[in-house]
Amino acid sequence: MCAAVRKAVIPAAGLGTRFLPVTRSVPKELLPILDRPMLQYVVEEAAEAGITDVIVVTSPGKEGIAEYFRPRPDLETRLADDAALLEKVSSGARLADVSFVIQEEPLGLGHAVLTARDAVGDEPFAVILPDDIVEHTPGVLSQMLAATAHAEDAASVAVERVPWEIVHNYGVVDTDPAGERLHRVNGLVEKPPPGTAPSNLSIVGRYLLPPQIFDSLERTPPGARGEIQLTDGLALLMEDVALYACEFEGVRYDGGNPMGLLRASLEYALRREDTRAAAADLIRRLAAEL
Ligand code: UTP
Repeated sequence: MCAAVRKAVIPAAGLGTRFLPVTRSVPKELLPILDRPMLQYVVEEAAEAGITDVIVVTSPGKEGIAEYFRPRPDLETRLADDAALLEKVSSGARLADVSFVIQEEPLGLGHAVLTARDAVGDEPFAVILPDDIVEHTPGVLSQMLAATAHAEDAASVAVERVPWEIVHNYGVVDTDPAGERLHRVNGLVEKPPPGTAPSNLSIVGRYLLPPQIFDSLERTPPGARGEIQLTDGLALLMEDVALYACEFEGVRYDGGNPMGLLRASLEYALRREDTRAAAADLIRRLAAEL
C-alpha cells in the first residue's frame, strides 16, 4: 500500500448485542477502557499513522457518537483554569477531521464500509474496528503502512497468532511468507470448522484497502442473516489485487465483549502511572480473596 493514506473509516453502526442492556442507549464504541472511550483510542491510532480524515459510520439511535466529537464551549469555559481537564475535553476532535455517515440498518461490516464509499472517494483508505484495541507504539496502522510501503496498490489486513484450539472462532488467512512479520494471503476462511484452519493467523480489525474494494463489496452476496461481510468482499478483491497479512507487534484487547473490556481496563490501569499503585493493590486484594 502506498504511504499516502489520508482517510480512515471507523464502522460503529453495529447493534452491540454482547453489551446489552447498556447498548440500549450507550453506543458500544463509547464504552471506556478505564476513562477513555474505545473510539478515542482508535482515532489516536489513526492520527499517529498520518490519517487526517476520519469517517465514522454510525446508525440511527447512536447520536452519542457524533456528540462525543462536538465542541463543548460550555465545559471549556467552566474548566478554563484546569489545563489537564481542558485537554481531555477537547482531545477527540482535534486529532483529525471527523465526519459521519449513517448506515440505516446493521447489514454487516462490509455494508458499513460500502456506506462510506462517497466519503472516501477514489483513494486508498484504512478501516479500523473500534472494538479491537492494540496497545503499542507505533500503532498497528503505522506498522502496516511501513510493512507494505513497497507494495503499491496492494491491500492488507492485520493478523495475530491465536492458540490452535480457539482458531475456529476467528477469520483466518492462508498465507505464504513475504517478509519479517509479513505474509502474502492466498485465501481467507471465516470461522473454519475445528481442525481445518489453514493457519493460526487470525484477522484483527485493521485493514488498508484500495478503492476497488467498493466494487468488490457491491458484488458480494449477502450471507445468512442478510449481512455483507468484509472478508467475503476481500476474497473477491483478491482476484485483482494482492493481499498481505501484517503480523503486528502489541497486545490486542477484544473490547467487543464485557470480559475483554474489563481485562483491557485492568491492564491499562496497571500501565498508567496515575492508576498503577491503586490497580495493583486492588488486584492483589481480590486475588487474596479467591
Ligand atoms: P461487531 O460484530 O464486533 O459489532 O462489529 P456488533 O455487531 O455491534 O456487536 P455484537 O456482535 O452485536 O455484540 C465490529 C464493528 O463493526 C461495526 C460495529 O459497530 C463494530 O464497531 N458494524 C458491524 C457496523 O458498523 N455495521 C454493521 O452492520 C455491523
